Amino acid sequence: MAASSDNATDKGGFRAWLNKRLPVDEFVASQLTGYFAPKNFNVWYFFGSLALLVFVIQILSGIFLTMHYKPSELMAFDSVEYIMREVEWGWLIRYMHSTGASFFFIMVYLHMFRAMIYGSYRAPRELLWILGMLLYLALMAEAFMGYVLPWGNMSYWGAQVIVNLFGTIPVIGPGIVEWIRGDYGIADSTLNRFFALHVIALPFAIAFLILMHLVALRQTGSNNPDGIEIKAKLGADGKPIDGIPFHPYYTIKDLVGVGVFLIFFCGVIFFVPTFGGLFLEKPNFEPANALSTPEHIAPVWYFTAFYAMLRAVPDQQMGALLMLLAIVVLFFLPWLDRSPVKSIRYKGILSKIALTLFVISFIALSYLGLAPANDLYVILARIFTAIYFGFFILMPWYTRIEKTKPAPERVTYHG
Ligand code: HEM
Repeated sequence: MAASSDNATDKGGFRAWLNKRLPVDEFVASQLTGYFAPKNFNVWYFFGSLALLVFVIQILSGIFLTMHYKPSELMAFDSVEYIMREVEWGWLIRYMHSTGASFFFIMVYLHMFRAMIYGSYRAPRELLWILGMLLYLALMAEAFMGYVLPWGNMSYWGAQVIVNLFGTIPVIGPGIVEWIRGDYGIADSTLNRFFALHVIALPFAIAFLILMHLVALRQTGSNNPDGIEIKAKLGADGKPIDGIPFHPYYTIKDLVGVGVFLIFFCGVIFFVPTFGGLFLEKPNFEPANALSTPEHIAPVWYFTAFYAMLRAVPDQQMGALLMLLAIVVLFFLPWLDRSPVKSIRYKGILSKIALTLFVISFIALSYLGLAPANDLYVILARIFTAIYFGFFILMPWYTRIEKTKPAPERVTYHG
């Protein structure tokens, strides 16, 4: 580390001048070229850097949207239409941002699933997982408030339903609802404060959490598809023998991911920006109207699994509690998994079945949350909700009793 910065200083010129004032070379040497990551990363390891890329896209497109958007009950909807029709390239900026929101969740869900298959939430990475969960919560709040801003009819009624959920909290609920709205209904003051939170407070919170997430990752080092600790096997040079320098190996690999990502991202923006009403719902092309409820009120697809749970229970208070628990239980994953191995590669058949059922239940609930809440859908939602919770509640049991394969000494890598 010291040697490389000395070399840079020896060269003289601007680089030496800069390094004397800002430890750029030292940072690269300690965090990139000198940071050893497992050599067996696969495609599942693309999604963290891609989530980071979407965050940057959201910030940049958001800055330009804010230049023309008006956070007022009377002007919000028209200002978005103005961006779409009159502002040069406004349609592109808006679609980048709306598509970015959905892609953010796609990346984060795949990223979380990777952690689940390889047991990346297990010790010593519990805090990394918890920071990830806090990011997920912040992202949910950010997306919800962003969705209210265009002041379309679904913005209005979606906000109505979600904010009213806080009213189910005993005693203080109604007071909290009023406090969130800043009025007796979803109104101009609500829109204004959601705008402030969406463009300033939450992006800052998310940026801070991303930083903490990465610092925690750097501290423990990455897990890998075999779920074994590469730090346990060091070479004569003190570096993990199953590790390779993050730069240039993974910076280049991540760039491939970026290329593939951009093909899909641009494909959606240019050819199917509303994604058949999934990324931008049809009622949101009509202005907010307090006198006309959309036919089916449903949040955007990334929330519908939880929404289906809410509707699966007749009592709204219980439904809201269940929805909350469905998220809270994820925080406890590091302590629910009692398997002697981390990666699904070496876990037993019960874990494999449980994880498959969990994925099926999450996708099915996401679908059901979009569909009208009639009898059959409600019954199915109850069944899948039970499976969703079963995955977590039974985990301490099935991870302990099943027969696992021994994890290898060294990572498996086929170059
Ligand atoms: C804004 C959202 C997020 C960003 C930008 C982000 C970024 C990253 C990056 C760059 C990495 C290292 C590369 C990789 O392993 O893919 C990482 C690792 C990780 N993240 Fe995230 N993350 C986000 C959200 C989450 C969430 C929601 C969770 C889980 C609740 C999570 C859990 C983890 C775990 C467990 C690792 C270590 C994985 C391993 O080493 O196998 N992250 N994250």
